[in-house]
Amino acid sequence: MTDYRKIIFEHIKGVLPELDVSDIQQSENFCDYCVPCFKYAKILRKAPAMIANEFAAKLTVPGVQVSALNGYLNFTIERAERVKSVFERNEFLPLAGKTVCIDYSSVNIAKPFHIGHLMTTVIGGALYKIYKSLGANVVGINHLGDFGTQFGGLISAYRRWGDEARLNERGLDELLELYVKFHNEEEKNPDLAAEARGWSKKIEEGDSYAVGLFDKFKSITLEQAKKVYNRLNIEFDSYLGESFYVDKVSKVEDKLKAKGLLKLSDGAEIVDVGDDMPPAIIRRSDGASLYVARDLAAAYYRKDTYDFDKCLYVVASHQALHFKQLFKVLELMGEPWANDMVHVSYGMVSVEGMSLSTRKGNVLFLSDVLDAAVAKAASIINERNEKLDNKKEVSESVGVGAVVFDALYDGRLKDKNFSLDSALNFDGETGPYVQYTHARCRSVLSKAGNADIDGIDYDMLTGDSAYEVIKLLSDFDSVTLDAAIKYEPSFVSRRLVKICQAFNRFYNAEKIMCGGAEQSARLALTRAVADTLKKGLSLVLLDAPERM
Ligand code: ARG
Repeated sequence: MTDYRKIIFEHIKGVLPELDVSDIQQSENFCDYCVPCFKYAKILRKAPAMIANEFAAKLTVPGVQVSALNGYLNFTIERAERVKSVFERNEFLPLAGKTVCIDYSSVNIAKPFHIGHLMTTVIGGALYKIYKSLGANVVGINHLGDFGTQFGGLISAYRRWGDEARLNERGLDELLELYVKFHNEEEKNPDLAAEARGWSKKIEEGDSYAVGLFDKFKSITLEQAKKVYNRLNIEFDSYLGESFYVDKVSKVEDKLKAKGLLKLSDGAEIVDVGDDMPPAIIRRSDGASLYVARDLAAAYYRKDTYDFDKCLYVVASHQALHFKQLFKVLELMGEPWANDMVHVSYGMVSVEGMSLSTRKGNVLFLSDVLDAAVAKAASIINERNEKLDNKKEVSESVGVGAVVFDALYDGRLKDKNFSLDSALNFDGETGPYVQYTHARCRSVLSKAGNADIDGIDYDMLTGDSAYEVIKLLSDFDSVTLDAAIKYEPSFVSRRLVKICQAFNRFYNAEKIMCGGAEQSARLALTRAVADTLKKGLSLVLLDAPERM
């Protein structure tokens, strides 16, 4: 597909001073793109309207009309040119050769995979697909929370009250109960804390019994998480967790010492990171390394192993200070790549109509939310299309997709109140709406015999309702690139909804099976819509059922 913003930029960048691609704005009225000339008034000492008029007379961009209005330079792409661009797809791989590490989901061992993990998992998972589609080499990292004294507590709880058969049967539920029980008992019996410390020390020392139990807890947790990842179309390339970095912290300490950055404060090792933040604590006085220290070791490991161009951390906003400290330490160390580290943060999620406190304690399991969505999807689908063949599979795709799409529909920093009803509204701005529109396109194409469509007469698609669709398809790739640059999968999901709305207006306004060259062109447009929706859905982790 042709990116007209770039084409315009290439043609005018030498003429307009200090022009940035982002100065070329998408416009809904009067034209396709525009450049406001107000910022040039100061530089050129002329009125914006005059500047716009002068530039409009000077600039030529092939296939694009240039005009001026009220201080804006307006660019209107010749319709047939733009139609052609949609059907002349060339591969768009602007990030080829770049390596991006994405740290996301990062579950904690023996902790429930709850609704709070939804955002990191789907934002990270979608960014993974988005970067990959743009040609980048992507490394998906699940930085497991597999280190800490709590695991010692879990071992003592298991030894006191646990049972192997029950653990095998109940898995994570059993671990959670043991964990809660241990905490309650610990308040009454102070000996328990010492016992727990003893076990966590044994894990660290590699004691085979303690490590064996811990590994079992780990595999129970991961088995559960992987079930959810499968449902969400999520993948990882690495599951190296915090424990992997424990013995790599000393190398970081050596580096910090060499730079004169490591200080002792009340027996603890710290790094001063400026007046606006508390110091980063590397090691406590009792010798235990801290979260930020293990993250420093992980950052070096990732740079050494993958030589990334960017390393993203998709983590809730309440860890903002942690990442600020982490990045600052790397900057103080003089690492040029400190600037390539990004904390991709996001807002809070609450869920409407589902109690946050379930039988399992004070948490709402992500899998329970997905199950509820699938059940609701199944009943809606049953009402709409009772005879559908693979109802079960489609309900899974639609129910899970509804939750994911909803999570990825607003800008990531906004807090969300999730509602099953609105996420599953087939007529709303939802996953099911996009999936349904895709299925509608496929059904039109299959009724037309899925015939090969070639030799399209581009002039047949310049009418208003078809052209609205064309416009939205023609820069889909650059929207995807913007999503990658801003770490904002919502750019993709929002564009998908717009394409569907425009296609449905076209579908209602024009008869597709009208015969002749017009029919071929309209079928070709339908296919282009279906293919773009399918690709876009996969970028935001959704399946695209052929029939619904
Ligand atoms: N497991 C951590 C938590 O649940 C998130 C880890 C994020 N990644 C990192 N490299 N610190 O809070």
